[in-house]
Amino acid sequence: MRRNSRWPGFYKLSVEDRRRVAAEALGIDVDDLISALGDGGLKCDKADKIIENVVGTFSLPFALALNVQINGQDFIAPMVVEEPSVVAAASNAARMVREGGGFTAEADEPIMIAQVQLDEVVDSVRACTRIRQHVGELIELGNEAVPGLVRRGGGVRGVEPRDLGEGMVVVHFHVDCRDAMGANLVNTVAEAVSDRVEELCGGRMGLRILSNLCDRRKVRVTCRVPSHALAADGFDGADVRDGVVRASRFAERDPYRAATHNKGLMNGLDAVVLATGNDWRAVEAGAHAYAARTGQYSPLCTWRADHDDLVGTLEIPLSLGTVGGPARVHDAARLGLRVVDASSAVELAMVAASVGMASNLAALRALATDGIQRGHMALHARSVASAAGALGADVERVAHRIHAAGNVTLEAAKRVLAELSRSTTSSTSAPPPGQ
Ligand code: MEV
Repeated sequence: MRRNSRWPGFYKLSVEDRRRVAAEALGIDVDDLISALGDGGLKCDKADKIIENVVGTFSLPFALALNVQINGQDFIAPMVVEEPSVVAAASNAARMVREGGGFTAEADEPIMIAQVQLDEVVDSVRACTRIRQHVGELIELGNEAVPGLVRRGGGVRGVEPRDLGEGMVVVHFHVDCRDAMGANLVNTVAEAVSDRVEELCGGRMGLRILSNLCDRRKVRVTCRVPSHALAADGFDGADVRDGVVRASRFAERDPYRAATHNKGLMNGLDAVVLATGNDWRAVEAGAHAYAARTGQYSPLCTWRADHDDLVGTLEIPLSLGTVGGPARVHDAARLGLRVVDASSAVELAMVAASVGMASNLAALRALATDGIQRGHMALHARSVASAAGALGADVERVAHRIHAAGNVTLEAAKRVLAELSRSTTSSTSAPPPGQ
């Protein structure tokens, strides 16, 4: 089914109505959708089989980002995140990008790196030569350890020795993990080949483990947003475009800013990673190591003006899977994968990266105009209202009043809630004359 991710007014619906609309648009039975999200997608007895010392589970909001179009195809991106504004901002920025033709994305093959480390190697130049002379044999040995992966079309693609100096040699095995994130596969390969690597190189065996700097598994996304689509209340589109470019240049010069710039990007990207049951720590480790690859920590996504347009460019290593991992036992993660409906792990990575780019654009646009707090506070007011005990329609009432008063605090929310309930009580206990 060809999907359309433009669902105007979706945000205005009740949760119940959103579920109905989403289920219909996604071709998922509404009861399946509801039951997948019950208990946050994970019952305690299942959680107890996943990690140790379990005493319960911990839920986060599961939402849908809309308007995402990549290479001409629409995607609905599932997002799990606790921060207000992130989903709305990503959907809003994706709509602007859509006006310029959507995101254009491409990705490397899903190649992970297994590292086999050797210490105390007497002749490291000779060790590296011996590895190069035995590449075919080592590939075969690695593949024998992962027959299932080889059957699915993956396997070891290359072997690369690296001399780290002072007798330390590391041998990289490049493993095509197909639709798996690949940590277990890659670690299996590393352990299976290590004895032979030690025989060839001499020295003492060290670590055998994947590298999270998966720079052979990168995604590249670009987008072109016409200036008029960037216009905000009281801000001309071209000024906003130039403000976003200035913000990008700031991040390119200053690691203090680059860290926050990338955090805004990871707000959206991680939310998709989490909603599809993927390992966000692996993604974070790889992203930041890659951002620091030149020796200066830099922005992963940069922005430039091109004629009337704003052009964004993102490159990031991403190790995501659509098979294996927590999705096997986590109903909501499985639902996340159904929602995004990516045809492969590579396509899922393109969606996550595009949502990351949308989040980055939304943050820079807000910073270049009103500042981040106005929109953020409007949404934050709802969670403060709810924390103060407001229920149902009172959440919006309380949120509206504390936001309008510029006092988004728990105390203010409690005060407003008490006023509301007093006025409800007095109006029900003393009906107007004639009733
Ligand atoms: C907040 O979660 C993210 C931002 O700080 C990102 C940015 O400054 O670009 C708004």
